[in-house]
Amino acid sequence: MATLIDGKAVSAAVKERVRQTIEANGYNPCLAVIIVGDDPASRVYVNNKKKACEVSGIHSVEYALPQDATQHELLSLIDQLNADADVNGILCQLPLPPQIDEIAVIARIAPLKDVDCFNSLNVGRLWTGDKTFEPCTPAGMIELLDAYGIDPTGKHCVIVGRSNIVGKPMAALMLERDATVTVCHSKTKDLAAITQQADILVASVGKKHFFSADMIKAGAVILDVGITRGEDNKLYGDVDFDAVKDKVSYITPVPGGCGPMTIAVLMKNTLRAYCLQMGKR
Ligand code: GUN
Repeated sequence: MATLIDGKAVSAAVKERVRQTIEANGYNPCLAVIIVGDDPASRVYVNNKKKACEVSGIHSVEYALPQDATQHELLSLIDQLNADADVNGILCQLPLPPQIDEIAVIARIAPLKDVDCFNSLNVGRLWTGDKTFEPCTPAGMIELLDAYGIDPTGKHCVIVGRSNIVGKPMAALMLERDATVTVCHSKTKDLAAITQQADILVASVGKKHFFSADMIKAGAVILDVGITRGEDNKLYGDVDFDAVKDKVSYITPVPGGCGPMTIAVLMKNTLRAYCLQMGKR
């Protein structure tokens, strides 16, 4: 049986470190969380982010806009939060309703408050090695590797999924850690031939049990970012956990693997935003 990578425990430790830093220094960081519409998954994520703020000693303020909110309304809210010195981080939960241009919204968030590391300036800084916020989901996976003593240097990391939130920034972080990186996606030919070569597989497809045991190399490290609700109402990862658990060396469970880490890094980034804006450290 592979070693289970316990994202809940690592996430709790990261949040506790954030809390201690805030308490020891009398800091007062604040995260503004924007949600537009009533997507049930987004509601769950936003509630979890607010809960994590409480645990970490970060003040959070929610701004809930209706499903039919206009782009102008959302951009005006972001302008107001950009200008508010009491707000250190701004998170706009994605996806947004179709009438709103996501790229324009992300671009409007002040780079110093962009705790998701989504806007172009911060993404550029990420790829050039300039200091910036850490992209939450990918940096969370790197924290998991570090926590379990897994060094990506020289390893072949195969990332399946090329989203701006996971696949692309994960490629940047893995390159920075000296891995050899291959990014695959829905148009990749003979995907299995590539995933079979992965020492570290990052699965970010969003399809229940997309990866069967024959697609995976013996002894691989599996980071499963996928999370899909099955017809039985249970949550499933992209990787067929039961089929691969005796073949691989490390694997993240779903839920409780990569998911909790996204939020932990968000807490770290909010504290960092506060420190940068207040001229601390
Ligand atoms: N939607 C899915 N993941 C994320 C995330 O990490 N941040 C935001 N803002 N929206 C998301």
